[in-house]
Amino acid sequence: MSSIVVTGRVPPEAVGLLRGAGHEVRVWEHDEPVARDELLGLVAGADALVTLVTERVDTGLLDAAGPGLRVVANVAVGYDNIDVAACAGRGVVVTNTPGVLEEATADLAMALVLMTTRRLGEAERLVRSGQAWQWGMGLLLGRGLQGRTLGVVGLGGIGTATARRARAFGMTIVYSGRRDAPAEIVEELGARRVELPELLEAGDVVTLHLPYGPATHHLVGADELALLGATSYLVNTARGPVVDETALVAALRDGTIAGAGLDVYENEPQVHPGLLELDNVVLLPHVGSATIETRTGMARLAARNVLAVLAGEGPVTPVGDV
Ligand code: DGY
Repeated sequence: MSSIVVTGRVPPEAVGLLRGAGHEVRVWEHDEPVARDELLGLVAGADALVTLVTERVDTGLLDAAGPGLRVVANVAVGYDNIDVAACAGRGVVVTNTPGVLEEATADLAMALVLMTTRRLGEAERLVRSGQAWQWGMGLLLGRGLQGRTLGVVGLGGIGTATARRARAFGMTIVYSGRRDAPAEIVEELGARRVELPELLEAGDVVTLHLPYGPATHHLVGADELALLGATSYLVNTARGPVVDETALVAALRDGTIAGAGLDVYENEPQVHPGLLELDNVVLLPHVGSATIETRTGMARLAARNVLAVLAGEGPVTPVGDV
């Protein structure tokens, strides 16, 4: 019997899988993320951790867990909360959850595309405000998607699923990334690969679908927003620090870009106060993968990763498989 710590509330099916395999499972059963000092106590002696994006897995946490730790299974596709090198240095396997959240996250990215271009946040706030309003030719005019270009930064699983949706709205796809997307995807989407500056110039909407790390820190800053231009929109469902939030506030305020839709923030859960004052940005609380089916799939996959490693088998989805 191994000792497994689940650092936050997850769908019960996943805990059931772990307990069903005969392991001792301790779960942080609260809505609030576990405080750091409590977390350090909770993980002591664990053989396996199931972690959420709200927990930082660094040398301090690895020390607190102790030498028996064999696997950290993150319930997310992104794993920028984990010091993967420190884990590798101690022989701790790290896994994530690719392949189960693409459709849900793409739905949300497309929702943000529509919310920003059609000003739906403003529209909803108007009705809720109780202010008098009336149908009018000029009321809350937005921009249509038909015939426009979607720039996808990172045409992986989520980027591809988002591009498919955009195609159904009549959009043309350009993408950028470290490497060419598979030929069948490129053909299906009629997508063209370009460098980031060209993508920003061509894109009427640019949507970010890339992991966060030193190479992508502030990938989109003042210069990039200037290239995007005054009639274009930015959507970010990836990770907040990919965008320089201070530069974004200035660009939204000055009309350098038309609008933005954000599900993630640079200092999450803090939101830049400048964003809160602006009408041309839609703000969501990191709910990209938040469907019952998807969160259950993610947690089950994390549990399967833990069980595989504890059984001495290879992990199902080790990091690097994104
Ligand atoms: C992920 O999977 O990386 C998401 O951001 C968490 O839902």
